[in-house]
Amino acid sequence: MILRGLPRFRAQTSWSRVASRTSRRARVGTAPVATSRWFESMCFAAGLGMAGMAGSSRLSCEDPKMRRVNVARAADFADGDLRQVRIVGTMDGAGDGAIMLAFIDGQFYATGASCSHYSAPLAEGVAAKDKMHVVCPWHNAAFDIRTGQPVRGSGLEAIPTYQVSVEDGNVIVQVPYVMDDFVAPAMSQRDPADERVFVVLGGGAAGVAAADALRQEGYKGRILLITEEKHLPYDRPVLSKNLGKAYDPASLSLRDEAYFKKHEIEVKCAARVKKLDAGQKTVHLEGEVLKYDAALVATGAKPRPLPINGFDLPGVLALRTPEDAQQIAAACQPGKKVAVLGSSFIGMELASTLRRRGCDVVVLGMEQVPFERVLGNRLGEALKVAEKCGKTSLLFLSLLFLSLEGKGCNWKLYFT
Ligand SMILES: Cc1cc2nc3c(=O)[nH]c(=O)nc-3n(C[C@H](O)[C@H](O)[C@H](O)COP(=O)(O)OP(=O)(O)OC[C@H]3O[C@@H](n4cnc5c(N)ncnc54)[C@H](O)[C@@H]3O)c2cc1C
Ligand code: FES
Repeated sequence: MILRGLPRFRAQTSWSRVASRTSRRARVGTAPVATSRWFESMCFAAGLGMAGMAGSSRLSCEDPKMRRVNVARAADFADGDLRQVRIVGTMDGAGDGAIMLAFIDGQFYATGASCSHYSAPLAEGVAAKDKMHVVCPWHNAAFDIRTGQPVRGSGLEAIPTYQVSVEDGNVIVQVPYVMDDFVAPAMSQRDPADERVFVVLGGGAAGVAAADALRQEGYKGRILLITEEKHLPYDRPVLSKNLGKAYDPASLSLRDEAYFKKHEIEVKCAARVKKLDAGQKTVHLEGEVLKYDAALVATGAKPRPLPINGFDLPGVLALRTPEDAQQIAAACQPGKKVAVLGSSFIGMELASTLRRRGCDVVVLGMEQVPFERVLGNRLGEALKVAEKCGKTSLLFLSLLFLSLEGKGCNWKLYFT
């Protein structure tokens, strides 16, 4: 069994969202610039007392659903600090939670602690764009610390924001009894009187983020998202890490049907765009022509076929869709010998997934070490050693594949 993990970026879409203009800015107090760099990240607010912190653990609050929690000494913060603070539940029913406290240009901001993509701790990220955006340390999503709105990347939900004040040198945050990790981003409603049509071609992560961003930025016209796949937009990167998920594509959905309905984003699945006529502003589908006012092409990337003999033989599979992943899972039963062609992210992730399934895996790459092109030689060397410990064979021949010959499950690979 030969697997291909060689992506080619056909029409890579870059989509950046302008920071949300909704003003849910936390009410903040000023605080002196502090000197101490680190901070007790535990805050005990349950009548247990807050170790090392002034004031009572449970402060009075006007709104019965909210509580005021003393989370830090203002003087312990230096400009630019991002810190995670745990909020502990109380005996009277307030739940646990966590916030990120940011001290930027003399003001405190409090937000949810986790990225809405895969819950990375945002306090380990960096403050960018006039220090008003926190950038996730894992995959680069960004959120506006004033509003919690997602402004870039793969975090589709917003993070909550909380009111902050500084009283007698203590940083006081007002949090709800039940703290949500994420909240729905602020979105405009479709206005039937707005007859504009915006078509988004491609139902990948970029397409769905674009449709979201249009509504977040106040667009009230029609949005039509067209994808040739039969699934709602889904989280493609999961496929190389967890082949089993491919059998339940709905579990990978980035947004469900109810979401699209609520925000009046029309999704046309299993619809291949055959032609885009920018002059006439028309999109041509099988048996249908649609007029548009604006269009975004977000049709993504496809695995790159190797220009060698035998690459189209049965049993040579590429990984891009849930259907591809299902084919790979069916073919790569425990004990099978599998050659993965390509030694960067997708190839290496798949190799690791297949090892966990009990396959005998060999990775073939043209570089000296895995990830050489993207991460460099030293890191690649370290990963090569780690992968060997995991009993995956790695062949880095620095050679070009010439051809494949095979029948059934017996293969020969020829190199220069
Ligand atoms: C197995 C795998 C693992 C990955 N892992 C990671 C990872 O861990 N981290 C990471 O950052 N990236 C990863 N990637 C890359 C990541 O998935 C892509 O960068 C991302 O999907 C790009 O999103 P996109 O919306 O631009 O394009 P795509 O996801 O490619 O979506 C494009 C959409 O357009 C549709 N389309 C194309 N042509 C037409 C047409 N003519 N008519 C209608 N629809 C059309 C396609 O069917 C598709 O639904 C991985 C990719 C794969 C394949
Ligand atoms: S976890 Fe934050 S971008 Fe992925």
